[in-house]
Amino acid sequence: MKKICKVAAVLMALLLAVGVLAGCQSETAGEGALDRIKANGKITMLTNAQFAPFEYIKDNEPAGVDVDIAQAIADEIGVELEITDMDFDAIIDFLNAGKGDFAAAGLTVNEERKAVVDFSIEYVTSTQYVIVPKDTDTASYDLNGKVIGVQAGTTGDLYYASVEDYFKAGDVKRYKSAVDAVAEMKAGRVDCVIIDELPAKKLVEENPEYIAYDPGYPPESYAIAVQKGNTELLDVINKVLQKFVDEGKIDELVVKHS
Ligand code: ARG
Repeated sequence: MKKICKVAAVLMALLLAVGVLAGCQSETAGEGALDRIKANGKITMLTNAQFAPFEYIKDNEPAGVDVDIAQAIADEIGVELEITDMDFDAIIDFLNAGKGDFAAAGLTVNEERKAVVDFSIEYVTSTQYVIVPKDTDTASYDLNGKVIGVQAGTTGDLYYASVEDYFKAGDVKRYKSAVDAVAEMKAGRVDCVIIDELPAKKLVEENPEYIAYDPGYPPESYAIAVQKGNTELLDVINKVLQKFVDEGKIDELVVKHS
């Protein structure tokens, strides 16, 4: 009797393991993605809420342009919106591990990311700005040899500060957010900070001892990312985004959150 129980227990454990594995697999597959979200009653957005006006914390809750768009996506599907506020440089891995349904984080579309996720239509254009002390002559400012603060894993980090095509940084200091990078500049540990245009403008508004200037780097576009092959969800996201773009709502949201 005891033995049978043991065998049964082992069998149960095996069945459970298979079930869990099967469950994991269906979580990463695109097919049935919408049904799964509806069955869960919620959709999960992955973001890093230290990137105003796109995502920031207001009254202890994430708010911002991307949050409003995400809410409209949840409403369109008829489920609750859940937000995971996390480190920016881990968002794509989390998405691909099935720990969220989509990433909306002022995320720039680029070839490296396109190889591992699928992107929605583009809804914002931006470029990288440099934040420096306000008495700086930006026309002659030389980034060569400077200690540059960036948010880890952003295009400001990977495309400008950490490569030598544009200049040879004295040192690149990576922080969890541009807010932290600016705090470190205030503490004298960083000479300047590279971050996207609108977040840079917002940061200098809050820190009037600094100014933000456009060094003339190429334009970037933001899009929402889903796991590769998740066309069911991407179609809904694109429908919502297209409506926002067509009705001029994105600009309105930028003003609302600026
Ligand atoms: N656009 C830049 C990038 O995609 C920075 C995005 C940072 N976003 C954030 N929510 N912190 O790399």
